[in-house]
Amino acid sequence: MRAVAKRKSRPGYSHKEGEDQIGQKGDPSVLDAGLIAGAQGVEHYEIEVYGSLRTWAARIGNSFAVSLLDETLQEEKDADHKLTQIAEQSVNREAAGASA
Ligand SMILES: [Fe+2]
Repeated sequence: MRAVAKRKSRPGYSHKEGEDQIGQKGDPSVLDAGLIAGAQGVEHYEIEVYGSLRTWAARIGNSFAVSLLDETLQEEKDADHKLTQIAEQSVNREAAGASA
């Protein structure tokens, strides 16, 4: 018997939610902070998925898949890091000032 894991949904933010958020009214810096937080949620989800797939590929000895997944995993981590930098260097500060 073959086991198949299927994930129907994930917690957090979706691309649809991001699209819905674009165009909302409000302070732009607060909206930007929300978009960045949502985008980071997507990156974290992708890191989780690619990390698991990488682990499974290694387990079955598929070095080609491991190599590709390592590359993809690093891209996701880099994107998350860039989003953190953008948030911490400007957007979060501006958003906090908007509500003060
Ligand atoms: Fe990503």
